[in-house]
Amino acid sequence: MSAPLRFDGKVVLVTGAGGGLGREYALAFGERGACVVVNDLGGDIKGGGKSSSAADKVVEEIKAKGGKAVANYDSVEDGEKLVQTALDAFGRIDILINNAGILRDRTFGRTSDLDWDLIHRVHLRGSFLVTRAAWNHMKNQKFGRIIMTSSAAGIYGNFGQGNYSAAKMGLVGLANTLAVEGRKYGIHCNTIAPTAGSRLTQTVMPPDLLESLKAEYVAPLVLWLCHEQCQETGSLFEVGAGWIGKLRWERTPGCIVRRRNQAMTPEAVQQSWDQICDFSNATKPATIQESLSTMVEVLSKVDTEKGVVPNPTSAMASAV
Ligand code: NAI
Repeated sequence: MSAPLRFDGKVVLVTGAGGGLGREYALAFGERGACVVVNDLGGDIKGGGKSSSAADKVVEEIKAKGGKAVANYDSVEDGEKLVQTALDAFGRIDILINNAGILRDRTFGRTSDLDWDLIHRVHLRGSFLVTRAAWNHMKNQKFGRIIMTSSAAGIYGNFGQGNYSAAKMGLVGLANTLAVEGRKYGIHCNTIAPTAGSRLTQTVMPPDLLESLKAEYVAPLVLWLCHEQCQETGSLFEVGAGWIGKLRWERTPGCIVRRRNQAMTPEAVQQSWDQICDFSNATKPATIQESLSTMVEVLSKVDTEKGVVPNPTSAMASAV
């Protein structure tokens, strides 16, 4: 058995921790010695209203088990205030779990400006604002752990969730860049796409599934990713039902459809389509440098005309 993973001396801010997944994270960190800021606006599922009772209840639960916690009732749109609560109560901020969320599902054609904006304000802009407020503190102390909460709806798309999918995939992009920028300061940023029964999923999941997919099956991944021993960064995980999997990009070897000194044509793209889309021998580029190096290689290949797949259409065009 490995030693228990403890968080003594660490200060954790969990947004939207008054219920569902966030509550579970807050309780788990509290049990393992962390000082926890339990943030929750206490509004309804669509982003209306506010109340202090959700956050207060979780703070009481943590304290009843001998843990240390304070509440914060601000919206994640007031990012600075959330981080200030951590600084005022505990003097630092080490770990940030961007978890707060709402839903405003609509088929795309019926999505209003408000449906779009509110979802983006809470999920994407909210995560940006809280993270930015914490960033320099983490940078100065050369330690930080940040979690972004994405969704399978963003990764794969889901009927009626255009606004939510876009915001959730935006968080993956933000996390990727934070991982790049944070690496030299000991700041790690990872993204999870969880599945669990909660207030948010009760409208879409049957009751037995809602009951079985417990939030406590997600929390252990979040705790591990946030531990100082964990070196993972810039990664995306799907998690639920006690299962955890990691995702990455896969790219076909592709095909050069251009020849030196000849126009590149849509017909050449059409003719090479099967090869462009053939995932046999796919590569797994992990950085923007890897992506760019492919283009540089292509330029030199086309220039020397070595290994270039003939472009039948332009060859034909030049023959006439
Ligand atoms: P939940 O509704 O139980 O918890 C979300 C919490 O965020 C609520 O307590 C709510 O009051 C709070 N909140 C909402 N807007 C806020 C704001 N502006 N500022 C501060 N707090 C705010 O939902 P659940 O399921 O626990 O969701 C947590 C996160 O996980 C969300 O980001 C959600 O999109 C994401 N997620 C959940 C999935 C699931 O299967 N439960 C699936 C995919 C993603």
